Amino acid sequence: MEKVFSSEASPNIAFIKYWGKRSANRNIPTNSSISMTLDPRVLNTRTSIVASERLKEDRLFINGEPQVLGGASATEKSKYIVRTLEYVRDLSGNRSKVLIVSQNSFPSGAGIASSASGAVALIEALLPSFGITLDADRKSDLARLISGSACRSYFGGIVKWNVGKESDGSDSHAEQVFDENYWPELVDLVMVVSKARKAVSSSEGHELTVKTSVLYKERPAFAEDGVKKVIAAVSKRDLNALAELIMRDSNNMHATMMDTWPPIMYLTDVSKQVIYAIHDLNKGKGKNIAGYTFDAGPNPHIITTDDYKEEVLGVLSKIPENTKIIESHSGHGPKLLADGDSLIDMESLLPKKDGK
Ligand code: DP6
Repeated sequence: MEKVFSSEASPNIAFIKYWGKRSANRNIPTNSSISMTLDPRVLNTRTSIVASERLKEDRLFINGEPQVLGGASATEKSKYIVRTLEYVRDLSGNRSKVLIVSQNSFPSGAGIASSASGAVALIEALLPSFGITLDADRKSDLARLISGSACRSYFGGIVKWNVGKESDGSDSHAEQVFDENYWPELVDLVMVVSKARKAVSSSEGHELTVKTSVLYKERPAFAEDGVKKVIAAVSKRDLNALAELIMRDSNNMHATMMDTWPPIMYLTDVSKQVIYAIHDLNKGKGKNIAGYTFDAGPNPHIITTDDYKEEVLGVLSKIPENTKIIESHSGHGPKLLADGDSLIDMESLLPKKDGK
């Protein structure tokens, strides 16, 4: 049996968001962004890959579902995955097709960035399958070409993705600003209020907002300033300041989404209840002990610290639709899993050795 490589990566939650691209094809952003990489022990994508001459075509399964990789019905993401596979084949000179099996520990497409952890886990297992070694910076760039926000999940802790100036994105890289041990008490309480797939994909949304929103013109400068302020707040472990920056940036991004034509609305009534509940809580305390943020979906991420966690959970437990809360501190970047940690018996999905 050909060697199977398996990897694990986690999603990230952006404190200052990436929304809008200078180039859709290469996921070059209009502004810098900054995020916390989540704990892979809590939220992860695991991916197993085998490159085999027995395969006649590339095969990809996500959460047990076969994905269409080529042809007219393939999604943009699938096309970017195919582009990455071709790049890796060209680099290695090995033209073998691959079998990729990927599993998320959390619902896909509901505002928890499965595309980020998915792209990173893919790159991490794919390169060794073709005998390629690249440094983390280069791997992060490859992940970005599949899904922009993925470049931040290549590093642990608090990670900045620099906007860069070059039109080809060659200076738009992610870098770790603080490692996962810098502020270990910082925690993301992820409320899973909806497992439904989003109506407008983030890739479509990025483009439509830049094209049609009047408010969007103000956003790149606002976000750039926000990134600097977030770095200052984290460096002082200042939750009061950080929470406000996070909430304002989320609100600002969702305002540009609402201002998109036709409007994009990811927030639901439950999301709004959480927004009001957190403002009430902070008001009662006389300072911000928690901040909410929402990606392209309705699921609230509440950023707080262990000191206030129970109090915040108490408030969230009163929200009627609150079914499940996942608690995640900051975690490390991706890793290769040990031999034998394959997700499933990969051999059973490969054509038999005699070609049948
Ligand atoms: C709202 O990285 O999913 O989560 O580059 O098209 O794959 P593509 O978009 P994606 O955008 C995520 C945007 C966001 C904010 C963020 O994570 O910064």
